[in-house]
Amino acid sequence: MISRIVGQHALTKKVESNILRIAEMAKQSKKEHADVIDATVGMLNHDSGALFTFPVIDDLWKNLDDLQLYPYAPVSGSKAFTEGIFTWVFGPFAESLKQVFHYQVIPTTGGTAAISNAVYNFNEFGHKILVPNYYWTPYENIAAEGNCGVDTFLMYDEHYQFNNQSFDEVAKKLAASQQRLFVILNDPCNNPTGLCMTQDAWKKVVTSLNEIASQGIPVILLHDIAYIDYQMGGYNQSRQVFERYLELHEDILAVVSFSGSKSFSLYGFRIGAQIGLSRNKQVLDDFARVGDHSVRGRFSSVSHPAMSAIGKVFSIPENRELFKEKLLIAHDLLKERAAAFCKEADRIGLKTLPYGGGFFVGIESKNNKIFQQLVDAHIFVVPMPGLIRVALSSIKLSEVSRLVETIKKYV
Ligand SMILES: Cc1ncc(COP(=O)(O)O)c(C=O)c1O
Repeated sequence: MISRIVGQHALTKKVESNILRIAEMAKQSKKEHADVIDATVGMLNHDSGALFTFPVIDDLWKNLDDLQLYPYAPVSGSKAFTEGIFTWVFGPFAESLKQVFHYQVIPTTGGTAAISNAVYNFNEFGHKILVPNYYWTPYENIAAEGNCGVDTFLMYDEHYQFNNQSFDEVAKKLAASQQRLFVILNDPCNNPTGLCMTQDAWKKVVTSLNEIASQGIPVILLHDIAYIDYQMGGYNQSRQVFERYLELHEDILAVVSFSGSKSFSLYGFRIGAQIGLSRNKQVLDDFARVGDHSVRGRFSSVSHPAMSAIGKVFSIPENRELFKEKLLIAHDLLKERAAAFCKEADRIGLKTLPYGGGFFVGIESKNNKIFQQLVDAHIFVVPMPGLIRVALSSIKLSEVSRLVETIKKYV
């Protein structure tokens, strides 16, 4: 009898993150009970329950010619895709960043692969990556796949502002002990909390990172911008953070992970990008070299239809305008739901974490039975350590008041 089929390093592997399993449970339950509220799904839905899609993208990928559809996509991306993504992501700061930084855009199968490749390549086995204490739980899987662990700092101070003091202390301690720092910040529109960090908070983060890098310690800032296009402040405000990049120490590697799932509703296509930036050419050359290798070794190349369609969104001005117009509608949809949710929460005294945008709002809770209690009331949310995550992206306006009331009852 075979006693151990998996490798030593995989002996304890088990998906602890329950997000997709709970979403599946909610879907099943909805088939049986009409009153189920499904606040689990990280995909943007209309109030009708239909997925929010972009007609311009739909038209583009459905009308691609065979050569833009069937062959393998270029591993390093088409120019229309890479340049289009760079300009879209960095917006008003794209040109100034290009003047200061060496950079490379590597297409990946979603933001997940961008994060996964970076964690794998820019850590030593056994090291810990740094994330806030409230975080998207798949970071744990990603770290484990890279033979790493996770360390946390406190996300909030007593005023529910980003806790720069905790970040500074834990980052410096970890950097000193490992002689390396790899930090993931999911901002703006944090999943699971809804936090959007201020410019001041980012300025202090950059100061902390620079102090560490100036000791000769490798510092990697993984900036997960999955929900950047859903910040309530709008496009220019969501890009403001990149002005802070201009102050990064020359040896720091910033890796921006972009998700085509969220920005274009192309969830099932698996498209995203990791964008490396460093003032140091050697650092960026290393980013490009190992990134290219990992793409080939892990998933070979990305969805060609998605790359072609996105390239055409950005390289043809009319398409870009149509995309932007529709994105504003998506934005308003989410804004209306978030406003209704927060207003109702305020009215009945349910304390939510401060919401600045994105698909989710977090509610702290010490009740470890809350998930089941809500399920019994036909409400599905995702429980995470210390909080429950409510997906504003997947609920209906008409569900807000029962949702808020029931959460208040059990929180
Ligand atoms: C915080 C965060 N980062 C990254 C991703 C990656 O998404 P994808 O791999 O679909 O691009 C997600 C998706 O849910 C997310 O919530």
